[in-house]
Amino acid sequence: MPESITDLQEIFQKEMAKAGNLEGLEKLRVQYLGKKGRITTLMRSINRLPVEQRPVFGKELNKLKKYVETALEQKKKKYKQQLTATRWEKERLDLTLPGKPFHLGRKHPLNVIMEEIEEIFTSMGFIIAEGPDVELDYYNFEALNMPKDHPARDMQDSFYINPEVLLRTHTSPVQIRIMENQAPQLPVRIIAPGKVYRRDDDLTHSPMFHQVEGLVVDKGISMADLKGTLLLFLREIFGQEREIRLRPSFFPFTEPSAEVDISCIACEGQGCRICGGTGWLEILGSGMVHPRVLEIAGYDPEEVTGYAFGMGVERIAMLKYGIEDIRLFFANDLRMLSQLLAY
Ligand code: DAH
Repeated sequence: MPESITDLQEIFQKEMAKAGNLEGLEKLRVQYLGKKGRITTLMRSINRLPVEQRPVFGKELNKLKKYVETALEQKKKKYKQQLTATRWEKERLDLTLPGKPFHLGRKHPLNVIMEEIEEIFTSMGFIIAEGPDVELDYYNFEALNMPKDHPARDMQDSFYINPEVLLRTHTSPVQIRIMENQAPQLPVRIIAPGKVYRRDDDLTHSPMFHQVEGLVVDKGISMADLKGTLLLFLREIFGQEREIRLRPSFFPFTEPSAEVDISCIACEGQGCRICGGTGWLEILGSGMVHPRVLEIAGYDPEEVTGYAFGMGVERIAMLKYGIEDIRLFFANDLRMLSQLLAY
């Protein structure tokens, strides 16, 4: 007999107390119950005992084996419970805590205004058209009745890529592209929103800004149609109490041409700082499409007439929101953007 069973049990108990964790328990299990474990070895040695001792010894040994098994099993359970408990404690969530605030993305004020403009015109039957930002000199100037030596083409104002290609300086070239595609079908009734580019940079001018162009071509279109449409549009944008006036002006691609003003939104026409004392605010350029432009684009000016207009989106937004520096639109300052979005 290498060890008495009671001794072995005591040793086991001491080792068990030091096991410490699941790994320790597993080691202990192998040490006692494994193939070469202490208890297993003793089991095998029974047949070397005198016959009369075997039953008692075997019985005691079996008892010890059961004891070790249960003890290990119970301790294992306890360790596992402790592990789960500490994990719970570590990962505990207080569901009563208030959530962390987060910022929702919003539309840029310029996009809000652009969509508002699009909505008003599409509800009147206009279709939204687009043209390229990188444009041919031909569409940007030539076809709009601005030949090579025309002062409005001043190289200083345009971003040229090569002598034939530039960043469009206005959305008017879309007029030509649309008419060219559609002629001689009638009616043409489009608006063309988009970016335009000029070599300008100050409080009210940015090298990139947005315009919305409008064009209607059909039989019997008159200046009254232009005025009625713009009156409706401008009242939707600036309030039903607005009056408008058309002032004679000049654009190479319209004849006659008119600037359109609205009664000042700040002083209701009394005269103030915003309107420079005149009671009126200049909002857009417009006119009857020049016969030469109609002809270049494929329509017979003897058969059809048209009107066109173009407006600056930043200018409209600046007036509407009382912004004095155009650069604020492009500075991505969240304070300014969220302030505007309160409107
Ligand atoms: N293209 C002009 C500009 O950028 C605006 C304009 C004026 C557009 C008269 C038109 C128009 O369609 O008829 O200043």
